Amino acid sequence: MKFSVAPSFSLSGNIKVAGDKSISHRSVIFGAIAEGVTRVAGILEGEDVIATMNAFRKMGIEIEKQDESGDYLIHGKGLNGLQAPEGPLDMGNSGTAFRLMAGLLCGQPWTTLMTGDESLNQRPMERIITPLSLMGAKIESENGMPPIILNPVDSLTAINYTTPMASAQVKSAVLLAGLNARGRTSVTEHAVTRDHTERMLTGFGYEVDTIENPQGKTLSLEGGGRLFARDIHVPADLSSAAFFMVAALISRDSEILLEKVGINPTRNGVIPVLLRMGADILLENKRTVGGEPIADVRVKSSSLTGCSILKSDVDLAIDEIPVIAVAAACAEGVTRITGAEELRVKESDRIHSVVQGLRALGVEVDEQPDGMTITGGKIHSGSVESYHDHRISMAFAIAGIVACGPVEVLGCENVATSFPGFGDLARSVGIDLQQLE
Ligand code: S3P
Repeated sequence: MKFSVAPSFSLSGNIKVAGDKSISHRSVIFGAIAEGVTRVAGILEGEDVIATMNAFRKMGIEIEKQDESGDYLIHGKGLNGLQAPEGPLDMGNSGTAFRLMAGLLCGQPWTTLMTGDESLNQRPMERIITPLSLMGAKIESENGMPPIILNPVDSLTAINYTTPMASAQVKSAVLLAGLNARGRTSVTEHAVTRDHTERMLTGFGYEVDTIENPQGKTLSLEGGGRLFARDIHVPADLSSAAFFMVAALISRDSEILLEKVGINPTRNGVIPVLLRMGADILLENKRTVGGEPIADVRVKSSSLTGCSILKSDVDLAIDEIPVIAVAAACAEGVTRITGAEELRVKESDRIHSVVQGLRALGVEVDEQPDGMTITGGKIHSGSVESYHDHRISMAFAIAGIVACGPVEVLGCENVATSFPGFGDLARSVGIDLQQLE
């Protein structure tokens, strides 16, 4: 499937983007191992989260869809209630599902084979295999990538682990393994990463200790406790909202209101970065729902200026860098992004994908090992390869609205992993986007 986008302006509308992917995965995972029925409102029905649901269904968890608005009931069976799945667990395109589930399942008394699609099967897993093996997990992997086999173990042993890279997935995998470990597991991180796991564990009644110091944060939990079902309201995903934020900023005479967007401070870096570039963004009606801060985000057309984006920004905006790069291409002056090497191991090598895409549209851009330097200017008509990466597809669809002529983005089928309905929503605010087979 490909997108074909024609120049568009006067974008407007009040819209609600799809549910938060990180929170949706975690609501299924924690709902499944909690005692009782967890009701989840507004879950993301993207392919990634459906892969997580199907994995739990294979392990004997009943997950019921209530209605079309994304309300689900998860019939949790407690920390020891999962059954051995028949056959492999296929996590599709989802690194989050794979790494978090490996953490949860490596302490079970049965063998689990975990695999993924072509992209996921090329992503690094030694970052979780290393700490989980230190806990006593018996993991087989040919080359440090999926597929992996989790062999049965009697029990895991708690460790004190410092994550070598900024990664919420690694932190979460160790904490999830810690639930099934003897003793107190701790994870120290030196960079801020999204804290949905620790927030949600607390929400499910599981005690997590946090010690913050200037060098970072240490989280710890005691294995063998209990989680109790609760109601969860999944906010709209800031990572999905970011495409429409940039759309409104770069197209003339535009104003879009994005409703009920999660603005969790451990991952809302796209907002301060765009504000630094001169964006007109207002956070209205800020409130906390189900333990997560949300707001309605009003965005208007703005004249943007290039800026420096450092590792500390990237850590808080890891999934939004592709669309920030598009904003930078439309800004006056130079934007330099550094400290972004983690982007090379996402659904595609996102530094390479963004650089190639911008070049295909005539933008001046230099690639560096840890980032890129973009000189703002005109976006030309052209054809962009998405490398089957959902966020690259959507970022370049947005670039298309300010190009001098039509922009084609190839390989967009994976948009459904995180943002089903992206095309319809884009058209509803006035973006001239077609999906072609
Ligand atoms: C996620 C963590 C991030 C992010 C991903 C979702 C999560 O990955 O890029 O889309 O839900 O924990 P890393 O932990 O690899 O940085």
